[in-house]
Amino acid sequence: MEVIIHPTAEDVAARAADICCDALNKNPALVLGLATGSTPLALYAQLIRRHQAGQVSFRGVTSFNLDEYVGLPPSHPQSYRHYMHTHLFSQVDIDPARTHVPDGMLENPMDAGPAYEAAIRAAGGIDLQVLGIGANGHIGFNEPTSALHSRTRVKTLAEKTVTDNSRFFQPGEFQPRLAITMGIGTILEARRIVLLATGDGKAEAVANMVEGSVSAMCPASALQFHVKTTVICDRAAASRLRMRDYYQFVLAQQDALTARFGLR
Ligand code: F6R
Repeated sequence: MEVIIHPTAEDVAARAADICCDALNKNPALVLGLATGSTPLALYAQLIRRHQAGQVSFRGVTSFNLDEYVGLPPSHPQSYRHYMHTHLFSQVDIDPARTHVPDGMLENPMDAGPAYEAAIRAAGGIDLQVLGIGANGHIGFNEPTSALHSRTRVKTLAEKTVTDNSRFFQPGEFQPRLAITMGIGTILEARRIVLLATGDGKAEAVANMVEGSVSAMCPASALQFHVKTTVICDRAAASRLRMRDYYQFVLAQQDALTARFGLR
């Protein structure tokens, strides 16, 4: 795992935007995996700004979001389809027909997973997957104890996740307890992964993910098996990493190589 530590959340977003734009400019038909939540909002704002400045286009992109709540229609302000429309899709030149979010409104939600897996396969697999991380170490909605080889499926949200996300719902409003999420095995098949983490609320999860044992109790630790994962965090989220100095040293070496040979 490559670990990049930046002073602020804004720097984290800028670094992630560099990686996304570089990938998009190298491959305009990129298959992009996307996340929701508060963390990637600054990244999406950067991508919109760069798109408006003519630095990047999404015209040929196919996208797959990680997850969606069961029981929320796309028009619901808390649905992830609605989030993506508001915070990215409606502000860039992506073809809406090539944007995918799991269908949380199927009569039998169990049908959504296999259909989503088939769509990802038909698109040729995910080239670049953007991830956030839950305070309990979840990625997508793969909660602790999720099988490390799991595929897209219905998942029951952990109490911690329901509490963390309750800030987005009005008091008394229906808050789903079930979601459809790409599995950990699905995520691990992405060719490249960029995980963003900001704030001290993520510090323990980041330390467990990067330096802990691989365990279903920290689903993000499965990323230790992935050959091309970059974790970008701010100082607060990195505060419990023990090998911070080493990561900074590695980064200095890589920045020197990038300056000479370009981004990889
Ligand atoms: C949402 C997702 C989740 C979030 C995680 C962190 O699509 O994949 O795993 O990344 O819950 O959420 P925030 O960024 O709101 O702290």
